Amino acid sequence: SWNMKNFAHTEMERLRRQIGERHVLGALSGGVDSTVAAALLHKAIGHKFHGVLIDTGLLRMHEGPEVIQRLKQHIPGLQVDCIDATQEFFDALKGVTDPEKKRKIIGGLFIECFEKATKELHLPVEGGFLLQGTLYPDVIESISFKGPSATIKTHHNVGGLPAKMKLQVLEPLRELFKDEVRALGMELGIDRSSVWRHPFPGPGLAIRILGEITRERADILRQADDIFLDEIRKSGDYDKIGQAFVVLLPDVKSVGVMGDSRTYEMACCIRAVATSDFMTADWYHMPYDVLARCSSRIINEVTGINRVCYDISSKPPATIEWE
Ligand code: XMP
Repeated sequence: SWNMKNFAHTEMERLRRQIGERHVLGALSGGVDSTVAAALLHKAIGHKFHGVLIDTGLLRMHEGPEVIQRLKQHIPGLQVDCIDATQEFFDALKGVTDPEKKRKIIGGLFIECFEKATKELHLPVEGGFLLQGTLYPDVIESISFKGPSATIKTHHNVGGLPAKMKLQVLEPLRELFKDEVRALGMELGIDRSSVWRHPFPGPGLAIRILGEITRERADILRQADDIFLDEIRKSGDYDKIGQAFVVLLPDVKSVGVMGDSRTYEMACCIRAVATSDFMTADWYHMPYDVLARCSSRIINEVTGINRVCYDISSKPPATIEWE
């Protein structure tokens, strides 16, 4: 019978044969997909696997160090490093507003970072592998069909990689759905909290700042997002939600009043969806008291935001992310 124990066993055998004596660099994000992929590779080839987490400057609050700590704790013996590439990402994204352009630039920069990392770790780039936690839905949503249906979004971990990349891509999860990856994660002994973590897209906060990306805007969004996640964890809604985040609308400024002065600041939108496969999703029916606390905390604590909206769009026809 086909189950996750069999899958892990057969896949590890296949990976060992394919990789041989070569090395694999793992693109880690802290999300369930890349964590499960890393656990599988670590189990299959041990010290020949090295994980790297790129700090793009577009991660959530405190994410870099927390992810490294969690990975080391949940996958004992895993070699993993955090690479600070924040300046490179902000420089490359300067002035860019088009969502697909953002994805392409980010995909290209990720590859540059990985190739640089292989050199720094003294791994051979030629003949080496890059591990990605690509799932089946990522594959189908990125395929360009001839005819009327076009690419929905170029997931940077699928279509957006430049052809010039020297590392060969390894995608052991590309035939699995999210629930199967979670089952595989449990099978590999990964902690529940990691297995049930909300996903976070590779391009990160870049596709949640609707317009030009700046370090200042990323900092503002990070604060609002942190407050939102904090409130839904405290209220017990986090585990009922498939994915939750804040979108910053820098070009939507509105008038407000703070104390006895007028404000003219940015709006943000809270997004939370209920979904099992991320292919379709309903907007989450968030309790009003939770929404009230999020709104009041964000407006009071985050300088630069004076209005909070709630997204009530389902997928389809909307997508989960705004870009
Ligand atoms: P959408 O917005 O297409 O998102 O409904 C479906 C799921 O995919 C995530 N997503 C991405 N993940 N690279 C990723 O690794 C990407 O470029 C990307 N775009 C969207 C999104 O967060 C959601 O979970």
